[in-house]
Amino acid sequence: MDIVIITGGSKGIGRALVEHYAAENYKVFALSRSHEAFDNFTQVSVDLTDISAAEHIFEGVLEQLKTCDISSLTLINNAGRLGDIKHLEDLKSDDVSKSIQLNITAAFLLSSMFIDFGKAYACPKHILNISSGAASSAYAGWSVYCATKSAIDMLTATIAVEQGEKENPVSCYGIRPGVVDTEMQTQIRSSNAEDFENVQKFKDLKESDQLYKPKFVAKRIFKLLTSQKLTSGQTVDLREA
Ligand SMILES: NC(=O)c1ccc[n+]([C@@H]2O[C@H](COP(=O)([O-])OP(=O)(O)OC[C@H]3O[C@@H](n4cnc5c(N)ncnc54)[C@H](OP(=O)(O)O)[C@@H]3O)[C@@H](O)[C@H]2O)c1
Repeated sequence: MDIVIITGGSKGIGRALVEHYAAENYKVFALSRSHEAFDNFTQVSVDLTDISAAEHIFEGVLEQLKTCDISSLTLINNAGRLGDIKHLEDLKSDDVSKSIQLNITAAFLLSSMFIDFGKAYACPKHILNISSGAASSAYAGWSVYCATKSAIDMLTATIAVEQGEKENPVSCYGIRPGVVDTEMQTQIRSSNAEDFENVQKFKDLKESDQLYKPKFVAKRIFKLLTSQKLTSGQTVDLREA
């Protein structure tokens, strides 16, 4: 049985990934705060900014996996938040902290637990971190988002270096999906030019229908991951892959 665990599986890119993997007959575990009624995958309710709850709930998911006949294991760290779009001096500490917990700490924690759990399995094992072009381009108003996505790229690279030395290693990849038509983009377009001077660029992309659809992105990600064309440790831009 091929297993995939997807964080942020309720909406946007994560939701499209859940549906695509389920259609490819994977056993899918989708982690998020909200859910809709669907029966072809397992929905797990968790607020990933609550790190001790995340640890406890992920332990439960891994425990369930012990009963499965596993042929491959994949973790997709997809859940992410922009947080408030404002210059640094106008941000509230609670919002900064939530973005760091979700975008970085949860991905570190789940990756750590996944790697440890995977030691008992010789099957193919992969971690995919959903990054962003913001990891390498500084946008005024997105300091926390840019910094957290940059940290995720380094997590991808360091997992690959650590695992490279091991027997039955976990491969780790990063993907920057491009500009995708999700709630995150709605939030970006609703910001004001004082807080985010690039807002018009994102409005123009939407108006000229240049946003990727989540379904298209999910299909491309699945193809890239299963084609084995990616190099562990690297983060690639979907627009160039
Ligand atoms: N859209 C883009 O243009 C774009 C571009 C580059 C990179 N990305 C990256 O792609 C990933 C997915 O983004 P998206 O555009 O699909 O965003 P989205 O539509 O806003 O979906 C975000 C997902 O994360 C989950 N999530 C948010 N806070 C959570 C929390 N505290 N605990 C658990 N789950 C939580 C949400 O579920 P609940 O609300 O139900 O918890 C939802 O399923 C993110 O990492 C984002 O940075 C997106």
